[in-house]
Formats: sequence, C-alpha cells, structure tokens
Amino acid sequence: MLQDTWALKAQREGYRSRAVYKLEEILVKVKYNNQSCKVLDIGCAPGGWSDYLIKKYPKSSLYGIDLLDIKPVKGLKFFREDICNIDNITEIHNKKGSFDLVISDLAPNLSGIRDVDEINIHELNLETLRVAVSYLNDSGTFIVKTFQNTLLKNFRTEMENYFSLVQTFKPAASKSKSGEIYLYGDK
Ligand SMILES: C[S@@+](CC[C@H](N)C(=O)[O-])C[C@H]1O[C@@H](n2cnc3c(N)ncnc32)[C@H](O)[C@@H]1O
Repeated sequence: MLQDTWALKAQREGYRSRAVYKLEEILVKVKYNNQSCKVLDIGCAPGGWSDYLIKKYPKSSLYGIDLLDIKPVKGLKFFREDICNIDNITEIHNKKGSFDLVISDLAPNLSGIRDVDEINIHELNLETLRVAVSYLNDSGTFIVKTFQNTLLKNFRTEMENYFSLVQTFKPAASKSKSGEIYLYGDK
C-alpha cells in the first residue's frame, strides 16, 4: 500500500491518525487479546492509538499523557504533561504497578545534529522504559517507538533486562525513510 493511502484509510475508517495501523499490526502479530486492559498511552496526541484501543477493547480503561492538548477521546483520561513529570500526576501515580499495557509513540523534537539527537532519543527511551517498568503489572506489555541509530542496540539490551521477550517491528504503515522502529516487550 502506498504511504499516503494509510492516511486516506484512517480518514475513511474514522481514525485520528495513520499511526493506528502501526499499533494494530503489532497487536495482531503478537496476538494481543486482553479485552479489559488498563492502558497507559505515552505521547498520545492526537489520540489515534487510544481511540483505536477503546473501539477494539470497549471494556478497557485508558490514561494518556502528552505535551500537546487533544480533542477528548471517550474513555481516555488525558493529562497534558511531560512524560518526565508523570510521577507528579496523582491519579496515574496511584496506579503504579497495575497497567496491563504501556504504549509509547513519543516523537521528540530533532535538532538535526546527529550525535545530539541520538543521545536525546536514547535518554527519552530510557525514561519511557523506566515509566513502563514501574507502571506495568507483573505480566505487562510494553510497545515503544524509537528510531534506528547507533544506540538502538543498547536500548534493546536494556529492555531485555526487564522483559522476558523482546521483539522489533517495522510495521507496513511506517514510512521506510523515517527510520522509526517499534520495540515490543512482554514480562
Ligand atoms: C507521533 S505523535 C503520537 C501519535 C499518537 N500515537 C496517535 O496515534 O495519535 C508523538 C507525540 O509525542 C508527544 N511528545 C513528545 N515528547 C513528549 C514528552 N516529553 N512528553 C509527552 N509527550 C511528548 C508529542 O507532543 C506528540 O503528540
């Protein structure tokens, strides 16, 4: 399928972003099927992933965080905040250790200076992993977007310290030239 057609498909099917098809492909491949999952959606704006999950699993409960505001998604409790401050959000903090699924589609601002960007991406990855590890329950699942770079292997190795199964995905809806890649971790 041509890249633009994913956006058209999203429009046709009433989704907020083409990103839903990346998440959908990963969930299908890993046979994810928790009908009443508690989800933490990191970098959730404009709300495509949350909207998709609530439609697919209507009994689920969703909490989302982003620097940007979003149009309300039915069933999503949204907090406008930096991921680095998530522990200050009492309603989410009280749920530490209880999430079934933590998903992160964070896209940091890039400077264009390769070394600087690689380190910033790696640090954001590590922060997201810290959040996933402390907010997931004992059988939780983590899906995180990151980017191909020289520190990717280090990040995957770090994930392997916390998850019994780690896999890498490049979904069909992900633009090949973007370098984005998704890691999946299952406890
Ligand atoms: C690609 S978008 C997410 C798309 C979303 N998954 C969807 O399906 O609609 C990436 C988001 O990450 C957010 N973001 C980037 N850095 C962040 C940070 N430090 N804390 C919270 N959100 C952040 C951006 O504001 C942006 O909305």
